[in-house]
Formats: sequence, structure tokens, C-alpha cells
Amino acid sequence: MRYMVRPMRQEDVVQVSVIEREAFPTQWPATSFERELRNKMAHYLVTYEEDDTEESSADRGGGAEGEPNQSQAQSGEDKLLSRVLTGVRRLLSSEQTAAQAVGTQKIVGFVGFWLMAGEAHITAIATKEEYRRRGIGEMLLMSCVELATQLNADAVTLEVRVSNSGAQALYEKYGFTRTGRRTGYYTDNHEDAFIMTTDRISSASYQTTLAILKRNYQKRWGIAGEP
Ligand SMILES: CC(C)(COP(=O)(O)OP(=O)(O)OC[C@H]1O[C@@H](n2cnc3c(N)ncnc32)[C@H](O)[C@@H]1OP(=O)(O)O)[C@@H](O)C(=O)NCCC(=O)NCCS
Repeated sequence: MRYMVRPMRQEDVVQVSVIEREAFPTQWPATSFERELRNKMAHYLVTYEEDDTEESSADRGGGAEGEPNQSQAQSGEDKLLSRVLTGVRRLLSSEQTAAQAVGTQKIVGFVGFWLMAGEAHITAIATKEEYRRRGIGEMLLMSCVELATQLNADAVTLEVRVSNSGAQALYEKYGFTRTGRRTGYYTDNHEDAFIMTTDRISSASYQTTLAILKRNYQKRWGIAGEP
């Protein structure tokens, strides 16, 4: 298995909503990801699991999104049959759960940010519970910072519960520092939030730090997908 990052799509909404509910059980109302996908200010990325075993890629047809494998469909008739089967699978997939559907990727984490007034404000980041501590949160945050840099954001900022030391450790690793505190920010238990913000992400020093983090990440976990 390997994990890749790409922009979130409409078909990911169900899986991402499940991850959100699991990660933020007291959050109400739940995020309308359909609306977020239409929001020009919002940018969402997902990490998906890719089965890179030979057997499975042959099974999927070896192509992207379940397209037929050309070497398996030599004759025109075979090609046609493969296309029809792919179409049938797609039809069936609407009746199955998103994760079971043939050709649908299993989403294991997501991150979202709003680009406002030159700042990328992270609205949420979460990894599916059973996939935590495998570098997925880091892959998402790294990709988010890279995308924010491409979009000419000056800095990346977020709120985090004062008790959420795991998430804070992740942000600190990526150069976020505490720049403020919001008293009673969370409505469920009135917990305070730390505001954590990066330095100017386009600065040479931040980009050098990011390049080192990325290299270390690739050594430890393998290649991260590009957003
Ligand atoms: C925070 C969260 C996204 C981290 O995701 P993850 O995939 O487990 O994170 P990673 O495996 O990529 O860890 C990267 C770094 O984060 C830090 N970290 C993550 N979880 C941690 C934990 N439980 N305790 C301490 N540090 C932790 C570490 O610095 C780690 O680096 P290391 O492996 O070199 O020690 C995940 O715990 C989660 O979804 N939590 C619930 C939702 C949430 O709290 N989101 C943040 C809201 S502000």
C-alpha cells in the first residue's frame, strides 16, 4: 500500500464526512463539503490509499480509475467488453458504499483551508483513526503548505485545542508557532484555542526548512503525492 494526495472531489464527500465525524465528534453542524467544493476560497486535499501490488493493478486493469488494461484487451471485441464492464462497475458503484466501489479510492485523511486576505487558514485536518501515526497527517500538512505557497499565500494559520498536543507537535514540526489564544473558542467544552501560524512561507528560510522536511519524509515514508 502507498498513500497519495490529490484535490478532493465530489465523489469523496461521503468518506471525508465519515472521517470528519470520527475526528471531531462534537462538531456541530457537520461541514457541508458539497458547499466547500463550490467555494472559490476553499481548497481541500485528500490522502487516498493506493494498492500498488501487481495482482491488484492487474485486477483493476492497470490503468487509472479502473480503465481497462490494454494488454489484457487485445482484440477490438475484448476492448469493447472491457469498456462495457467498466461502465457496469461504475453504475454498480453508485449502489455500493464509496469505499467498496470498484475504481473508487479509499480516502484515509483530508485537509482543508480557506485562502483569505493572503493567509491560508486551515479549517480542518484529520486522519482516519486506524491510519494515524503513519505519516498521513504530515503528508497532508506538507501538501497543504505547498499548495498555499503555489497560491501565493503569505502564511498558514489555524486554531488548535490547547489540549491537542499531538496536533500541536505536527504543526510545530512544520514551523507553526503560537501567535495567540482564543478564550473559550470551542463551544462543546469552552476550551481555549491556540492560534498557530507559520513565518512567511515564500521566504528562503521557510522553503529551505520545508525542503529538508520533505526529504526526511521521503526517506522515512516514501514519495508523497503532489496536489
Ligand atoms: C492530528 C492528526 C491529523 C495527525 O495525523 P497522523 O496521520 O496521525 O500524523 P502523522 O503520523 O503524520 O504524524 C506527524 C507528526 O505529528 C505529531 N503527532 C501526530 N500524532 C501525535 C500524537 N498522538 N502524539 C504526539 N505527536 C503526534 C508528531 O510530531 C509526528 O511526527 P513524528 O512521526 O516524527 O513523531 C490526527 O491525530 C487526527 O486526525 N486527529 C484528530 C483530528 C484533529 O485533532 N485534528 C487537528 C485539529 S486542529
